[in-house]
Amino acid sequence: MKYGFFDDANREYCITTPFTPLPWINYLGNDGFFGLISNTAGGYCFYRDAKLRRITRYRYNNIPNDIGGRLYYIKDGNTVWSPAYRPAETELDSYECRHGMGYTTFNSTKDGVNAKLTFFVPLGDACELHRLEVVNNSNETKELTLYSGIEWCLWNAVDDSQNYQRNLSIGELEVIGSTIYHKTEYRERRNHYAFFTVNTEVDGFDTDRDVFLGAGRAWNKPVQVENGKSGNTVASGWYPIASHSIKVTLAPGEKKSYVFQLGYIEVPRDQKWESKGIINKKPAVELINKYNSDAAFEAAFKALKDYWDNLLSIYHVESKDEKVNRMVNIWHQYQVMVTFNMSRSASYWETGIGRGMGFRDSCQDLLGFMHLIPERARDRIIDIASIQFENGSTYHQYQPLTKRGNADIGGGFNDDPLWLVACTAAYIRETGDTTILDHPTPFNNVEGSEKPLMEHLRRSINFTINNKGPHGLPLIGRADWNDCLNLNCFSEEPGESFQTFGPSEGPVAESVFIAGMFVKYGKEYADICDYVGLTDEAKTIRAEVEKVKTATEEFGWDGEWFLRAYDAYGNKVGSNECEEGKIFIEPQGFCTMAGIGQEKGFGAKALDSLYKYLVNDYGIEILAPCYTTYHVELGEISSYPPGYKENGAIFTHNNPWCSVAATVIGDAEKAFDIYKRSCPAFLEDVSEIHRTEPYVYSQMIAGRAAVHYGEAKNSFLTGTAAWVVVDITQAILGVQPTLQGLSIKPCVTKDFGSYSVVRKYRGAKYDINVIQDGSGKGLVVDGAAVEGNLIPAVEGKKEYKVEFYI
Ligand code: GLC
Ligand code: GLC
Repeated sequence: MKYGFFDDANREYCITTPFTPLPWINYLGNDGFFGLISNTAGGYCFYRDAKLRRITRYRYNNIPNDIGGRLYYIKDGNTVWSPAYRPAETELDSYECRHGMGYTTFNSTKDGVNAKLTFFVPLGDACELHRLEVVNNSNETKELTLYSGIEWCLWNAVDDSQNYQRNLSIGELEVIGSTIYHKTEYRERRNHYAFFTVNTEVDGFDTDRDVFLGAGRAWNKPVQVENGKSGNTVASGWYPIASHSIKVTLAPGEKKSYVFQLGYIEVPRDQKWESKGIINKKPAVELINKYNSDAAFEAAFKALKDYWDNLLSIYHVESKDEKVNRMVNIWHQYQVMVTFNMSRSASYWETGIGRGMGFRDSCQDLLGFMHLIPERARDRIIDIASIQFENGSTYHQYQPLTKRGNADIGGGFNDDPLWLVACTAAYIRETGDTTILDHPTPFNNVEGSEKPLMEHLRRSINFTINNKGPHGLPLIGRADWNDCLNLNCFSEEPGESFQTFGPSEGPVAESVFIAGMFVKYGKEYADICDYVGLTDEAKTIRAEVEKVKTATEEFGWDGEWFLRAYDAYGNKVGSNECEEGKIFIEPQGFCTMAGIGQEKGFGAKALDSLYKYLVNDYGIEILAPCYTTYHVELGEISSYPPGYKENGAIFTHNNPWCSVAATVIGDAEKAFDIYKRSCPAFLEDVSEIHRTEPYVYSQMIAGRAAVHYGEAKNSFLTGTAAWVVVDITQAILGVQPTLQGLSIKPCVTKDFGSYSVVRKYRGAKYDINVIQDGSGKGLVVDGAAVEGNLIPAVEGKKEYKVEFYI
């Protein structure tokens, strides 16, 4: 069953009912100011940091779980309705929500009135624009009252939801004309405030929530709206909100339009005040004036669309598979942008008050983001590397506002350092810019500790080399990619964090997964060394890679698949010898990608085993059989009920690894099959089972052992987005950035047919046609046959015509 449809021409998903199984959301904002918005206009916004600079309030565990957000009401006679269905929850004559690239629109009708709401964040400015357009399609004159509404958060979203003894006394507002200023705590240490305005004279306003709602009422039935009034209240303490009311007369056929702006202002500390006690509103007034007309609104909206046109023109495929085109050209890249911006901080599943930016998460997000805005990728790499410790290990997370490592979590996740190599290598393959390696980058953000980025990569690599266990495999530490495989934790008390409890180091527990990573990224590091002339170092590292490869082939192979790990007692994890957790997905994908045991056919066997034991209708499960009891020596993985999360769900993030792995061994059928199984567009028809948004990946889909098999959770913020871009655009469709230039190496099935890709790369445009005519002629560049897969780059050349014959 579907709850809408894809509109590819407009790059939108159109939702046709407010009653989706879960709120289906979208993101507004590009850099700095961000909003989350659901298909009933719920959600919230923040500036840079969802915890520390929350602008509007969100209630966790609410009933219904998506009430609040951007509140618009239309009072038409005795009927009050909302174009987004919520908050009023009045049945609509028609409803439509479209989530597009950085914007969301609603188009609804009730009793002959049509209302359109459009939401987006204009490029380069810290505000949300909301436009409400109303048209009278009836034969009678309509006397309407329009209400807006938002609820302010008192900046720190954690404090806002717990410290009522203080918070209910500190709210401060000011109203000037149609602009409501939220200035709580500006009187003391803050130098930022927010405002909500509309580009017309208002008939009234409210900023005191209790007056607006009335005793005992909620957002669906504010007393002021019911009575067609506003109280012109200026809240002091309690719960500050911002609401406007506008009386509108519409003749039959008449249309009116209003632009609302919800803005955030930071004022230099020495310019905080206009005069004693009067806040400096100059920057707010400038921003308000910038967007106070329909023309300005439309120009900004067009600029946003142009921005996305441009981004999505960097990689564009045309194949006969509509779903592949749709996901590659639109939604995969869009989701990658969202994960780049949010890491794992703010979604409807990540509260924005918990973790900050993850080291490994953000490094991996970059793998799929690199081609979109390489300059931002470069800055991000430096930010991430700056939280690394001198010994090569690193903080696991950092706060985006302060860019400091998160001491609560600390370090000790032994896969982390290698992801830095992965994303830096991908950056250089994309851009050819090796100057990044010289960038002075501090350790642990300590001023004066700066070393060239290359030294950070070196220490990452050496960290693995210097931290191996009894079998010559890398030690796992607190965990590797699988946060829940906690082999040194041994927690017995509820509430202890599996990720931070106990010693981070154990001299015995080893990870076959990190071994796979080291072989793959060790080689990529050695390639960089060669590329910049460090040939001796390249040799040394290649020898180290060989050692780990040999150790993995000897001690990391179980006969039919790769082992997962050795636990703190030296026992096997993920072996046929185990009763539960016999086979895990991660090492099959990574070790095969790394080419471990290739000559011995390990990869092909490992992937066959995935199909034998782990594949289900919606993807490949993370392990089988699921753990049915808690194992203190394995940690959080065995804490989940069977079939959920790391205990046997499809953890979508690692599915593309296996698809890429299939391309490494030349198995196009498996590669595409794995890609399709969990791809959201291919699951759209079973949205009632899948339940999350059909345009983006969810972190997990419950496995066969689960009570709710096939149900997805944790949509939007998952490393799957980036890996799937790597998988489909590079490994399967075969347009691969390398250090030396663009390489064409497709791994597609016969059925997939011929296709074309336009790729902008290092300042040139490549028109690529992959032609399946059975000739096997290979690469032709501008009419001339070329040996191998690499398109020879010609200095100054701006356009390449490329054919690849299979
Ligand atoms: C979550 C974490 C990620 C981890 C994965 C598997 O998605 O954000 O860092 O690799 O779970 O445990
Ligand atoms: C929980 C999640 C896991 C995540 C970890 C670290 O264990 O289940 O997916 O990686 O927290 O935040």
